[in-house]
Amino acid sequence: MSFTPTDRPRRLRTDGIRPLVSETSVDAQDLIAPVFVDETTDERVPISSMPGHERVPVNEAAARVEEIRETGVEAVIVFGIPETKDDVGSEAYAADGVVQRGISEITDNTDAYVIGDVCLCEYTDHGHCGVLEPHAHDDPTLTVKNDETLDLLADIAVSQAEAGADMVAPSSMTDGMVGAIREGLDEAGFEHIPIMSYAAKYESAFYGPFREAADGAPAFGDRRHYQMDPANRREAKREVALDAEEGADVLMVKPALPYLDIVRDVRENSDKPVAAYNVSGEYAMIHAAAEKGWLDLEATAYESLLSIKRAGADLILTYFAEDIAERL
Ligand code: PBG
Repeated sequence: MSFTPTDRPRRLRTDGIRPLVSETSVDAQDLIAPVFVDETTDERVPISSMPGHERVPVNEAAARVEEIRETGVEAVIVFGIPETKDDVGSEAYAADGVVQRGISEITDNTDAYVIGDVCLCEYTDHGHCGVLEPHAHDDPTLTVKNDETLDLLADIAVSQAEAGADMVAPSSMTDGMVGAIREGLDEAGFEHIPIMSYAAKYESAFYGPFREAADGAPAFGDRRHYQMDPANRREAKREVALDAEEGADVLMVKPALPYLDIVRDVRENSDKPVAAYNVSGEYAMIHAAAEKGWLDLEATAYESLLSIKRAGADLILTYFAEDIAERL
C-alpha cells in the first residue's frame, strides 16, 4: 500500500448523509402530464407505442385528468385528435374543436392547471405545422408559409384561452410565433395567460410514437425546414433569445435527454423558467427495454427525470409523470 487519498468524497455517501447533500430532486409539482383527447372514438384507445397512455373521448377528459391528479401531478398539456382535417387545420381553432371541448371539460370539472399545445399538424390533412406553400409537394424545401401561419396560431391560442386554458404552448417552430400569439391574446383580453414556448425544438426522430398517438405525421416530406437541426447548439441560443424577447414566459427545450447540453445553455443564458419535454421516443425506448427485462423501468425513468432537472430544467413534460409521482 503506497498511495493514500488526500480527500475522501465517499464520506458523504453514507445512507445518513446522502439525502442531506443531495443537490437535485424530482417533485410531482415539477411535472406536466400529456393528455390526448380524441373526437373519433367513444372509448379509450390504448397507444401501443406508449404503454399506459391512451386517447380518451371528450367526455372522459376530466376523468382522465383526475386519475393524473390523484398521483400528485397537477398540470396537464392537452393534445387533440379531430374528426376531420383540412388544408388549413381549421379544427385547431374552431370554438367547438376537440381540444377546445376537451379543455372546457377539464377546466369545468377539475382543478388541474391546463396547458393547450398550439400547433396545426394534428389538424391539417397534409400533417405539416402550418399553411402549405403552393409548390410544397414538388419542392419540399418550401413546406410551410411562415407569416400566413402566424394568424392561425394566434387564433388557436385565443380559442384555447376562451375554452379555459391556463397557459398556451406553441410548438410549430414558426418564426415570430410567440410575438403573434402574445399580441392575439392581449387583444382578446387574455394578457394574464402565459406562453410556454417550444423555443428550441429539434427535428427529432424521437417523436415517432407521438405521431402515432396524435395522428400528426406529415403526409409527405419532413419537418426539417422549420424544426431545428440536431447538429446545432449556437442556433438554439438565438432561437431561445428571440422567443424570450417576443414575450415567452417559459422556455422549453425538446427533446430532453439527448439535448441536455441545450437545457443547460438555456438555464445559463436566461432567468426565465426552463422546461424540457421528455418526449414520446424517450418514454417508448425505456419501456421497450424494460419489457425485455434489460432495464429497470422505474429506476431508469426516475434517473432520466433527475438528470433533466440537474441539467437545469425547472419543469418537465413527461409521459412518466403519473408513474413517477406515484412513487415519490
Ligand atoms: C406538435 C407536437 C409534436 C410533439 C409535441 N407537439 C410532434 C412533432 O413536432 O412532430 C412531440 C411530442 C412527443 O414526441 O412526445 N407539433
